[in-house]
Amino acid sequence: MKVRRPRGTNDILPAETSNWQLIEAKIREICYRFGYQEIRTPIFEHTELFQRGIGETTDIVEKEMYTFLDRGRRSITLRPEGTASVVRAFIENKLYAAPLPAKLYYLGPMFRYEKPQAGRYRQFYQFGVEAIGSLDPVLDVEMIMLPIELYKECGLSNFDVHINSLGCPECRPQYRQALQERFMQIKDRFCKNCQARITRNPLRVLDCKSTKCQELAEGIPLITEYLCQECRTHFEQVIEYLNQLNMDYVLDPKLVRGFDYYTKTVFEIIVPTLGAQNAIGGGGRYDGLVEEIGGESLPAVGFAVGLDRLMLSLNQQDASVFPQINPEVYIAHFGGATKKMAVSLINELRKTGLWIEMDYLDRSLRAQMKSADRLNCNWVIIIGEDELAANAVKIRRMDTGSEDEVGMDAVIEYLMKHREENSNK
Ligand code: HAM
Repeated sequence: MKVRRPRGTNDILPAETSNWQLIEAKIREICYRFGYQEIRTPIFEHTELFQRGIGETTDIVEKEMYTFLDRGRRSITLRPEGTASVVRAFIENKLYAAPLPAKLYYLGPMFRYEKPQAGRYRQFYQFGVEAIGSLDPVLDVEMIMLPIELYKECGLSNFDVHINSLGCPECRPQYRQALQERFMQIKDRFCKNCQARITRNPLRVLDCKSTKCQELAEGIPLITEYLCQECRTHFEQVIEYLNQLNMDYVLDPKLVRGFDYYTKTVFEIIVPTLGAQNAIGGGGRYDGLVEEIGGESLPAVGFAVGLDRLMLSLNQQDASVFPQINPEVYIAHFGGATKKMAVSLINELRKTGLWIEMDYLDRSLRAQMKSADRLNCNWVIIIGEDELAANAVKIRRMDTGSEDEVGMDAVIEYLMKHREENSNK
């Protein structure tokens, strides 16, 4: 039997990796402009970090973590998200000693044991940003602007920003209680999952995808009616800045998100055409997490973009962000001394920074031309016995079929001149 990849994982093949690299380059460039620096944390952490950070009663901690005992019998978990790890690293490496806020970003795989479907995988890729050490609502807005900048630069147009405030430990318990009391009256009518959530974590009911549970949650009290003065003012300031910057958003008082660490602002970016898994990014403020993980009390805010879903949306919307990349030159030879000449020439030509290919299978000229054509090369350089004797090569332009004989010393000059002429056309 063939060994297959584990369920919920993907192979990202060469035809796609160039697109991923392009998006990653855009991410790094945007983070540079916004002043965020990369942090790289381990892919696995002590399980306790996520239990404490994400919350014991969240779906992720209850059902979705890849947790195992290592050979030293320590409980280890593959990271299901990046925020808890970044906060741990911030505390452990005393990044609070540098000027605050610490502005950090990361890129990499995350792991959740979810039911795989289109856009939902067990290993998926996130780009995340965290700003630790400031309560300024300007930063909440920056966390929304930054991914939007990325989406726009990728050519994505059809997305909505949903935003809400989840209050803080002062005001949320009252809301939690009001919600619980309301749900308790009709508890039996909810799905099995929600029945458990009602007692343990009633806000999570608002995130249930079942239409029946959503209908039952119509007309419920809304968190925005329960916010304390501080949370209310903070939320108003966020909205004011969003308006000032002409950013579109949808106020969504039922937006709760899947982590217990959130306080105040939360947001999600949705591509309506993506189907059931339509969130391409989300985040919010988490003013209690640094203390929860053992640091001093410092406010923080962040987001993460799901890169797999961003790729799906870009392909779906035919965003023309991805250029076709093909080799510039293919060097064809006839073996023996002509092959030796090809090896020297490829070595020289690669110094120009261009993508150069040659034949590695000692095939006929016809087969080599076919390869060059399939690879979409712009030029083929042919080195035959006659050319070798004349210390020259034949250069064929693949789109017109025209050929020139060029002295060996003049090959680079010839290619550069003609490339420039073509790009000016
Ligand atoms: P999250 O909403 O769980 O937030 O994940 C962010 C994004 O990752 C989602 O919007 C989605 O695009 C993508 N994503 C999540 N799960 C999967 C999956 N199973 N398959 C494919 N893509 C997925 C967080 O992870 C928070 N740490 C964000 C944050 C940072 N909040 C504050 N700072």
